[in-house]
Amino acid sequence: MGAPQRQPAAASDTRRQARDHLLLNFTDMGEYADAGSKIIVRGEGCDVIDDGGRRFIDGISGLFCSNLGHSYGAEIGEAAAEQLAILPFTPTWYLAHPSAARLGARLAAHAAPLGMQRVFFTNSGGEAVESAWKLVRQWHAVNGEPQRTKAIARRLAYHGTSMGALSFTGLPDCRAPFEPMAVPTTFLSNTNAYRHPAGHDPAALTRALLVEAEDAIILAGPDQVAMLIAEPVQNSGGAFVPPPGYWAGLRSLCDRYGIILVADETITAFGRVGEWFASSLFDGRPDIITFAKGVTAGHAPLGGVLMTERMAEPFVTGGETYMHGLTYSGHPLTTAIADRVLEIYERDNVLGNVRELAPRFAAGLEELRRIPLVGDVRGMGFFWALELVKDRETKQLFDADEADWLLRKELSRHMDELGLLCRLDDRGEPVIQLSPPLVSDAALLDRILNIVGTATERAWRAWNGAPSAAPLPMGSSALRSANPHVGAA
Ligand SMILES: Cc1ncc(COP(=O)(O)O)c(C=O)c1O
Repeated sequence: MGAPQRQPAAASDTRRQARDHLLLNFTDMGEYADAGSKIIVRGEGCDVIDDGGRRFIDGISGLFCSNLGHSYGAEIGEAAAEQLAILPFTPTWYLAHPSAARLGARLAAHAAPLGMQRVFFTNSGGEAVESAWKLVRQWHAVNGEPQRTKAIARRLAYHGTSMGALSFTGLPDCRAPFEPMAVPTTFLSNTNAYRHPAGHDPAALTRALLVEAEDAIILAGPDQVAMLIAEPVQNSGGAFVPPPGYWAGLRSLCDRYGIILVADETITAFGRVGEWFASSLFDGRPDIITFAKGVTAGHAPLGGVLMTERMAEPFVTGGETYMHGLTYSGHPLTTAIADRVLEIYERDNVLGNVRELAPRFAAGLEELRRIPLVGDVRGMGFFWALELVKDRETKQLFDADEADWLLRKELSRHMDELGLLCRLDDRGEPVIQLSPPLVSDAALLDRILNIVGTATERAWRAWNGAPSAAPLPMGSSALRSANPHVGAA
């Protein structure tokens, strides 16, 4: 007898069950209940579809995860089903199994140019960051420096929410309820050239940022600092690209003071900027890369820590044991899924698609500077942000209430109506963040540009007191809810 077919819940049931029984991530549940927020029931190509049948372009790849969009699930599901039929679970505590080993080898092949051949698997990006921190601490301890207990990170950067990873997250609102933090961390300026006083001159910006970093190391005590963590392109605050020489400068500071350099590539790895690892685009090579999201393209929770041979050595040939473990580290299901996802990236030349279309996407976004609300356009690959300003000449900021109005009342409504999920974020200055699936074609990117342009023009007119009357570029039904991608995480 076959398994009974489960009937999909009626839309209203799902909404009620979610409202009554879920505690959603970074969500004001009172507001959620009032707004009757979206229920996404299906994905197709680069779109997601809600319970009312409305279709949205997934312009943010879920949460920077769905690099393959939503139509590879059946193929990836075959890999998952095969694995579950053969071996649903075995830990990777002392043991190993073929899926984890195969994925390790595939990752090592792509990380070889960065000198990384060894990986520890986690279930998420935050766990990867936390595991990297423990690796760094233990590495220093076995090298005779257990006093290195401090970290350096960057303002606004998001590195996860568990107590270790939260210590490196430079978002005061996320930290406030949980102070004091587990790890004493100094926060540096990020690479926001638009707002930095030296931002008009990339060489001067690099110099200023590196002087600041060195001063912070000296102030913290050079023999106390264990790790410097940064994203190659920082997401939070809006796609901050590093100026030339910045990563090389971080590398030489870390070498000078014996600090381990960690590149958090939770978002940037696996094609988001057209490379397997964004670190390969910049001169300074990290000692450790943390990754998650794109490694399974959102098909399963998996993250990991890649490390150079120098970092691995004490634990591989040096007689030390990495005193860390997670029951589901290297789970057969998630590693089988990730292995198939990476195979698809290779087979379907997904990174090549990003490299080919990125200049077109960049040019289209640059063209949006025609709208006076757009102060800055920044990013690379399929990873972009538009910073919104009140006055472009003076770069005048919106105050908190104005930003709230602009993002949550205006832009959110227009994006919704026009059928685009993107991220409208005001953890720093207000930004529209775009990270479409890496399999997006030129026509889809053009549709995204069209919608962002129309929505932003409407918001600009509303700001100036005029009704927002632009025609819709594509068919869409009446709006119902706030955009769920306005938010904290
Ligand atoms: C750069 C970075 N690091 C870490 C994390 C935390 O990842 P997770 O939510 O999988 O724990 C995120 C999540 O967005 C991230 O963007």
